[in-house]
Amino acid sequence: MADAERTTTAMEPTLDPAEWIILALDRGDAEAALALVAAVPELRWVKVGLELFTAAGPAVVRELRRRGLRVFLDLKFHDIPATMAGACRSAARLGAELITVHACAGSEALAAAQAAAEEGAAEEGLGAPTLLAVTVLTSWDPDRFHRELAIEPPLETYAGQLAALAAAAGLNGAVCSPLEVARLRAALPRPFALVTPGIRPAGSDTADQRRVMTPAEAVAAGASRLVIGRPISGAADPAAAFAACCAELG
Ligand code: C5P
Repeated sequence: MADAERTTTAMEPTLDPAEWIILALDRGDAEAALALVAAVPELRWVKVGLELFTAAGPAVVRELRRRGLRVFLDLKFHDIPATMAGACRSAARLGAELITVHACAGSEALAAAQAAAEEGAAEEGLGAPTLLAVTVLTSWDPDRFHRELAIEPPLETYAGQLAALAAAAGLNGAVCSPLEVARLRAALPRPFALVTPGIRPAGSDTADQRRVMTPAEAVAAGASRLVIGRPISGAADPAAAFAACCAELG
């Protein structure tokens, strides 16, 4: 899409179902990721995570953008304020429209990251990206979480506190489990973005995801966009699987 079309409200609800879905490119090399993208011509959004970025670097993000795709750069930055700011500036200059940062880096780091992302995008003539706060990784088991990290509040309360901290620091979104969407949405109304993985179309294999919702359920609960990986990337016909997800949302 043309840069001129980008806005600071990348997360506004849209009537086009294809805009809701972000395909997770969990691939270890650029060739495989680009082949997957080519197999789904209607795709609008992709997620580049640690595996692909570590293997293929900024070049794969540039290539995805050259192909007209919008990029969610999911590198979950967590560092001191100056380093968070520098990383978010670089990600924004690269053209990423969604960027993850760990909320537990604290308000000073989050505010610095937000300001730097806005500046970096502006330096390139791009709209400001949306920084998404990661609260508590859904892979944590609540008991182990308390035992190993010695954090007292219930995990859900702690996650809610971190989301509120991120919003107060000026961030415009968070990543959360589909089962947390309704509760967080009540506290953080739109246009605050809630992006959720853990999506499984009705009847599909849940694989290692435990707490899933269908695309339609997650949107109804208040999700802004949905990250979907294996139900599309692992399908015999990824374009048909993507179309089925869109049909569910249409
Ligand atoms: O294949 P699947 O649909 O499970 O992929 C979901 C994507 O979202 C993967 O890239 C995974 O790393 C990511 N993710 C997740 N759960 C979280 C955070 C991120 O599944 N809590």
